[in-house]
Amino acid sequence: MDVAPSLLIAGNFLPFRLKISPNNVISSSYFVDSSRLSLIFDNPLLAQPLLRLQSAVNSKSRELRSAMIEDKVRIAAIADLHYQKTSHGVLRELFAQIAKSADVLLICGDLVHLGLPEETEILVKELAFVKLPIVAVLGNHEFESNKQEDVKKILADAGIVVLDGTACEYYGVGFAGVKGFAGGFGRLALEPWGEQSIKDFVKETVRESLKLESALASLRTSRLVALLHYAPIRATVEGEPPEILPFLGSSRLEEPLNRYNVTVAFHGHAHRGQPEGKTREGTPVYNVALRVLEQKFPNRPPFRLFEIPLKEGESHAAHAKAE
Ligand SMILES: [Fe+2]
Ligand SMILES: [Fe+2]
Repeated sequence: MDVAPSLLIAGNFLPFRLKISPNNVISSSYFVDSSRLSLIFDNPLLAQPLLRLQSAVNSKSRELRSAMIEDKVRIAAIADLHYQKTSHGVLRELFAQIAKSADVLLICGDLVHLGLPEETEILVKELAFVKLPIVAVLGNHEFESNKQEDVKKILADAGIVVLDGTACEYYGVGFAGVKGFAGGFGRLALEPWGEQSIKDFVKETVRESLKLESALASLRTSRLVALLHYAPIRATVEGEPPEILPFLGSSRLEEPLNRYNVTVAFHGHAHRGQPEGKTREGTPVYNVALRVLEQKFPNRPPFRLFEIPLKEGESHAAHAKAE
């Protein structure tokens, strides 16, 4: 039974989620492996003990997982899920495989198709079974219905960390995220010259690039991971029609990656692009758009798994594979 939540406390480490409705009815759903047992509590007096239990379980799960991760952090990355109102269950199997293989899940934008809260609700219900930290950036599709703030709130309420020029840290690895914007690549990138609307367009790209830079600057970890929706390099959008290449990303987003010696960057948006490339300074860049991975690696589940060694002296240039 679902209760309209006024407060939803959920974490991706949790064996259960807890909702409190406006009239203080508590519903708590317990997940045990893949089977789900639902308990409904009608007594508002149970709220505080349950909240304390939730918090204790959450921190204990985090401690246990941290203790288990000694050698390497396994990062799964996907993008362009484009969930719609009819998408119930379509990626459930993929999410289950990711949950078994990774320590952290990154989602690089276009989580939903029309940017609707209803689509987002369907997605977060399915992601609730992935008991990992989930870090995401929004894509252009989240803006389509002008409800991006609602979408963001639903994701945040479900325990998903949405980065927008901000950063977070898990297991000693720092994650900086931004949506990014378009503008083109290299010498042929759009310049802020002529009409005001062109200057505004370029200003938006520069603004996103500065946001990425300040997110990276805020991290104190030596391992840095960047997630974007738009591409920071041309190599991973090649294969798309040449007419649209400048709308798929911008070299201005590459500059912070080189300046901060980022370990690895992930993006989406270019559904017909290439799965991997490198920045000028050699940082690996992966296009993890679902359709790219499905087409390039048809015999594997469509997610990219990247392992970052944690021991001193080991190369940061960890190896990556499409699972
Ligand atoms: Fe997309
Ligand atoms: Fe997109």
